[in-house]
Amino acid sequence: MDDIATATRKPTVKAPGTDLLFQPYRLGPFNLPHRIVMAPLTRSRARQPGNVPSPLAACYYAQRASAALIISEATQISMQGQGYAWTPGIHSREQVEGWRQVTKAVHQANGLIFCQLWHVGRISHPALQPDNMLPVAPSAITPAGKAFIENERGEGELVPFVRPRALSIEEMPYIARQYERAARNAQAAEFDGVEIHAANGYLLDQFIETGTNQRTDVYGGPVENRARLLLEVAEALIPIWGPDRIGVRLSPLGKMNDIHDDNPEETFGYIAERLSDYGLAYLHIVNPAMEEMQNGKQPEPRALSMAELIRKKYKGTLMVAGGFQPDTAERWLAEHRADLIAFGRKFIANPDLPERLRAGAPLNKDDPTTYYGGGEKGYTDYPSLAQDRGEQPKACVDQSWR
Ligand SMILES: Cc1cc2nc3c(=O)[nH]c(=O)nc-3n(C[C@H](O)[C@H](O)[C@H](O)COP(=O)(O)O)c2cc1C
Repeated sequence: MDDIATATRKPTVKAPGTDLLFQPYRLGPFNLPHRIVMAPLTRSRARQPGNVPSPLAACYYAQRASAALIISEATQISMQGQGYAWTPGIHSREQVEGWRQVTKAVHQANGLIFCQLWHVGRISHPALQPDNMLPVAPSAITPAGKAFIENERGEGELVPFVRPRALSIEEMPYIARQYERAARNAQAAEFDGVEIHAANGYLLDQFIETGTNQRTDVYGGPVENRARLLLEVAEALIPIWGPDRIGVRLSPLGKMNDIHDDNPEETFGYIAERLSDYGLAYLHIVNPAMEEMQNGKQPEPRALSMAELIRKKYKGTLMVAGGFQPDTAERWLAEHRADLIAFGRKFIANPDLPERLRAGAPLNKDDPTTYYGGGEKGYTDYPSLAQDRGEQPKACVDQSWR
């Protein structure tokens, strides 16, 4: 009998060399079925006015619910925290309601979703700030580059950054309170957890790195001071969510948004070590070797040793994102460089990415012209494998909720 049963059992279709990606993982209170996470991805399609997640966003995230965990697009914690037109917030009642429809749709599809909490600091513009005030930063240093705003005609426009205002010491407790309020709102919106966005040159990263922080008070100077705001934010959120539903994202050696650090090994090594003490759900890093890896090149030794340093200093779950292909993701898991791999652009174009990787099916190519703004095109219309086989797409926009 056994032989017959074995002979007739349908073989599990799995692409060669994706075994570790498909091993389950225990993340805080969650049993993840595999190791493929959806990275946070800004899509700039929030409903206006008010920067409210739309029913289409619920559809987009529900389509991607087979990720082991979805990390939401960066979501501003306050009006002051906004840096781009049309990104969603989590500071108004309407936004919380909008997000609740998103989390409901993801949960109905058996997914998990964390909210990425975002304050952009100097990467903003008066046109996006309350009462057209100056953006805030650790120090009054103008970033190179341009801000994306909405002009008087309602169109997106790039305009040069302005010189931000340095936060006064008296204001500092109120920054952590903005995160606290957003974290409570994320609970009201029924997220499964939150990720503190301390990467890519935004406010917390501006405090962390020497190039943007020239303060002479307890938030500037030695790394213990530059890390203070991030650690205060983490400590403010732990009583709200519990440590095992909080992640932190860092980008060691990252250059995005005109950021740099004089001694990144010391800076990020210290922070990884300190974050270990909290027993968080995970530390998430943007792969320092992303640029080379996405171009199929050998990573710089410094980038690899930075990833190794973080791995050594951080005692807990490490998630890495950036430049991965299925084979390099598998290799990083095999070499214990990461516990979870987050994919960004591949999830934009492949709503059923885990199924495609499992089957070794071809991947849709992402279209950068539809990353930001617009509607369904390039957002909810990338086909699943089932659609490739001729099935009708699932209708997932429920218009009845408003
Ligand atoms: C369109 C787009 C939007 C992004 N938005 C965010 C974001 O909101 N928050 C964030 O931390 N990273 C963001 N990133 C970075 C991604 O999370 C990820 O680190 C990056 O895409 C590299 O991973 P990949 O090579 O798998 O795409 C974004 C990237 C892209 C392409």
